[in-house]
Amino acid sequence: MKFVLKNYGCQMNVNTAAKITQQLLAAGHTVAATDEEADVIIFNTCCVRNTAEQKILSHIALAKQIKRHKPNLKIAVIGCLSAKRKISGVDILLGTDNAMDVVEKLGVSLQTLPAEQSATAYIDITYGCENYCSYCIVPFVRGKLRIRPREEIIAEFNQVKNTAKDIYLLGQNVNAYPGFPGLLAELAQQDGDFTLHFLSAHPKDFEIKTIQVMAQYPKIAHDVHLPMQCGCDKILKLMNRKYTTADYLKKVELLRKYIPDIHITTDIICGFPGETEEDFNETVAMVKKIKFSAAYIFPYSNRTGTAADKMPNQVPFQTRKARATKLVEIMRKMS
Ligand code: 5AD
Ligand code: SF4
Repeated sequence: MKFVLKNYGCQMNVNTAAKITQQLLAAGHTVAATDEEADVIIFNTCCVRNTAEQKILSHIALAKQIKRHKPNLKIAVIGCLSAKRKISGVDILLGTDNAMDVVEKLGVSLQTLPAEQSATAYIDITYGCENYCSYCIVPFVRGKLRIRPREEIIAEFNQVKNTAKDIYLLGQNVNAYPGFPGLLAELAQQDGDFTLHFLSAHPKDFEIKTIQVMAQYPKIAHDVHLPMQCGCDKILKLMNRKYTTADYLKKVELLRKYIPDIHITTDIICGFPGETEEDFNETVAMVKKIKFSAAYIFPYSNRTGTAADKMPNQVPFQTRKARATKLVEIMRKMS
């Protein structure tokens, strides 16, 4: 069988996609050169922003066109988007919890995999999220926070530690893992020629202990993704982020004190409901002050079912986009 796997969205999805690809390859299937040549097209989807959702829906529509001339083509849609909405005319639909079942649903028997060979390995430590940031759809599609058993994490880690160069611990908010600094320290002391990373950290729970562990163990990368979302206290409150700009700055200062060569990256949303020009300028000032190594900047996207979608003072689309473009330009000039 020839397959195409189209992946969208976050690192969790990269992880799922890598695992599905490995299982299909291990069972003797091959990657098709084009969609037309494929016997199966798998969409591993994301619905965090409307742009992603629309893009994926248009790609699925293209696959359905191919299927019209090639009825044997199987289309599988898995992950966040299929957890959120019905998608018609496809053969397999699976949400986020059972996305990996796609392999069996395709009639492929699971193979015992040899130790992972890839240079980068991803290990889930938590699933889901219950922070309910007011703009975010993740808690609705990925469900409540679940902690992966420590033995499972260690076992997966031991499988990859001697072959992977980079190992990522993944969670919507890794700091939700009880005793995260302890886990990090334990893994950083294992043998193997790897660098340890983690994604993502929520500023509200990012603790000094984690920073100290990062500073102490040479196998932990000096990079941290700390999504700020916005640099204005009024908007942070409306976002339900549970930290202030002062709290955020404090963590940045601590990181730089303990780890002078730290790379701090962030996410920023522009044009959240109620954001005035002055509020936006506060975010601009924070970005200039902190000097992030990189920032992923998004215009705010309404997601049905979230609290922010129903808030008053929605910012016009053009303004959201214009602010995002301006911030991207400011970041570019600073680099
Ligand atoms: N609109 C715009 N950006 C969003 N993100 C999450 N939800 C939305 C939304 N509704 C961004 C956040 C998050 C990143 C993964 O996606 O910045 O950190
Ligand atoms: Fe979404 Fe907030 Fe959870 Fe991140 S912490 S997944 S932004 S609700």
